Amino acid sequence: MKITVIGTGYVGLVSGICFAKLGHQVVCVDKDYSKINGLKQEIIPIFEPNLKELLLSVKSDKKISFTTDLNQALQGSQAVFIAVGTPQGEDGSADLSYVLGAAQEIAQYSQSFKVIVTKSTVPANTGAKIREIVAKINPQLDFAIVSNPEFLREGSAIEDFMNPDRVIIGVEDEKAKKIMAEIYQDFADNKILYTDIITAELIKYASNSFLATKISFINEMADLCEKTGGDIKLLSSGLGLDSRIGNKFLNPGPGFGGSCFPKDILAILNIASENGVKLSLIDAVIKSNKLRQEKMTARILNAFDGVYKNKKIALLGLAFKGNTDDIRYSPAIKIASNLAKKSLQIFAHDPEAIANAKKELAQFNNIRYFDNAYEATEDADLIVIATEWKNFSELDLIKIKTISKAKKIVDLRNIIDATAARMAGFEYIGIGQK
Ligand code: UDX
Repeated sequence: MKITVIGTGYVGLVSGICFAKLGHQVVCVDKDYSKINGLKQEIIPIFEPNLKELLLSVKSDKKISFTTDLNQALQGSQAVFIAVGTPQGEDGSADLSYVLGAAQEIAQYSQSFKVIVTKSTVPANTGAKIREIVAKINPQLDFAIVSNPEFLREGSAIEDFMNPDRVIIGVEDEKAKKIMAEIYQDFADNKILYTDIITAELIKYASNSFLATKISFINEMADLCEKTGGDIKLLSSGLGLDSRIGNKFLNPGPGFGGSCFPKDILAILNIASENGVKLSLIDAVIKSNKLRQEKMTARILNAFDGVYKNKKIALLGLAFKGNTDDIRYSPAIKIASNLAKKSLQIFAHDPEAIANAKKELAQFNNIRYFDNAYEATEDADLIVIATEWKNFSELDLIKIKTISKAKKIVDLRNIIDATAARMAGFEYIGIGQK
């Protein structure tokens, strides 16, 4: 089937390439000429493991093309996916201008039946707004609206797309349902849940809010472990063995970040307040997560026993999580800026996120960047792990002990083996441990 995907950001590009891998004929459209030109030359604008290899494979099969011309991209396609950004508006609500702009253009250029699918995370009732816009601009057009939210995670986006826990399809039109079923025909029937459009839109926000709540919950349990002498790793295992709870997303850390959770929990609050509903639990999660980053900053400062001015910190990790170069709402970036404001010297390292971090933290001249984790530790008084990159768990601690004058490691992700750190001669401070 010919599919048009509007937007070549994370969701659009991964979806487009994966649809092509499923055998569909995909045209990816973006207004950004340089992005499209780059993609024509196989330059991927984001860091995502294995995406380039997959692009090369679908390109050689002639299953994908890239253009800035939406009119041309819509010719002959039955389904058009809107996967443009929904940035956070000033009041916390999702800014729908790109989504509604795309809907307007689809209406202008479409001449034959179209299934218009939102993949971007959009508030409840956006489907209805799109329907209204399209019907107004092109009253002759035969079309249907579908909500098909995407649940992929950065760093494992292809796996998440190709082997999803579920595919949610909000559809209220039989012809559109058949087309969606054909698009996802390679997925087992029990993986696909058909709903009405509003419920599909809400499922995405509810999922992200629930996961964010789970993380805040385990972070607070880690605080409780620290004060009572419990062990958060064992507590997480004990909790996770209950299949009603599940063992995922129970790793404590410096709080959740990224382009989705912080934005989506604010947006769901907004949707709720517009509808006169109070989500007090979500309110509490937002507060807990904000406080978490301040608490983690205090933990680092405490490691100097109160005398921290001009101390040097090796900060390992800048991305909001491992396996990505994304620093949006990254707790590591917030902690770096908190520490820099307190006049500490920071020697920062991240396997992929340095370029982005440099731009974000440009105002600080007390942050230096290192391409190599070991070099970042050499002149440091303290080592802090802020992002769960797998290679940080594999660092040669004995080597670091010989090259660095640091005596303590503050591990905000619990990814270093505490015993190995102590054997190497470090004082190890983890999360939720004695
Ligand atoms: C998330 C959702 O998981 C995904 O389904 C949705 O489509 C987009 O938002 P992503 O933002 O890529 O994906 O990151 P995710 O892996 O969910 O992590 C989010 C944040 O939570 C990160 O800062 C991560 O470090 C943190 N986290 C995650 C924890 O602190 N502990 C955990 O146990 C899991």
